[in-house]
Amino acid sequence: AEVVIVGDSGAAGALVAEAIVSLIEERPDAVLGLATGSTPLPVYDALAARSQGLDLSQVRGFALDEYVGLPAGHPESYRSVITREVVEPLGLAPERIRVPNGAAETIQHAGADYEAAIQAAGGVDLQILGIGTDGHIGFNEPGSSFASLTRVKTLTEQTRRDNARFFDSIDDVPMHCITQGLGTILRARHLVLLAFGAGKAAAIAAALEGPLSANLPGSAVQLHPRATVVLDEAAASELQ
Ligand code: F6R
Repeated sequence: AEVVIVGDSGAAGALVAEAIVSLIEERPDAVLGLATGSTPLPVYDALAARSQGLDLSQVRGFALDEYVGLPAGHPESYRSVITREVVEPLGLAPERIRVPNGAAETIQHAGADYEAAIQAAGGVDLQILGIGTDGHIGFNEPGSSFASLTRVKTLTEQTRRDNARFFDSIDDVPMHCITQGLGTILRARHLVLLAFGAGKAAAIAAALEGPLSANLPGSAVQLHPRATVVLDEAAASELQ
């Protein structure tokens, strides 16, 4: 992977937004892989600030993951988060932005449906990724196969604790999620992994310099021919 260390998350956001702008100028209906969580927000902010004069109406997008079992319209469902933080500020066409369907009634085939939709779109051009403190990407928790496709997973206690900040209490954080697999993520044509802060330093060092391991799902990025990793100094601090 190519590692870029920048001054702060704002600079990272500007850098990645610029790459996305170039992609969209070249290909107005580019397919973006969208991450949620705190990490990609500077990218979306920079893109929104930069988007005047840029036609984003044809852009297509696929979110990485979704919680299972939240009521429709719950403000912390990733469908709601993507609508609020990406679709609305960027003026994307809502019907072109897909999020895995975490509704219980359709969960049996939701994974296969999502894979089919990504394939029908011709695959993801640029996949934005964050990393969990336990090394997950998407919600592929430790133990995930590098060949895995979109499927239901159980969130680790660590991830539920990390994400409790978005809910009233940890008890409200769902136990399950539906996530693109590591195999799905690896099919994207360009991976852009971002990480900020000392809390991510160990996961980043293990992902980029440790052995390929299902126990450190982020290490899958080592297998990708075109992976860009954008870090602040704190997140880079445990790299050799
Ligand atoms: C979110 C996702 C997760 C997050 C990771 C880091 O769609 O797939 O892998 O990227 O949990 O979360 P933050 O950015 O909130 O630290």
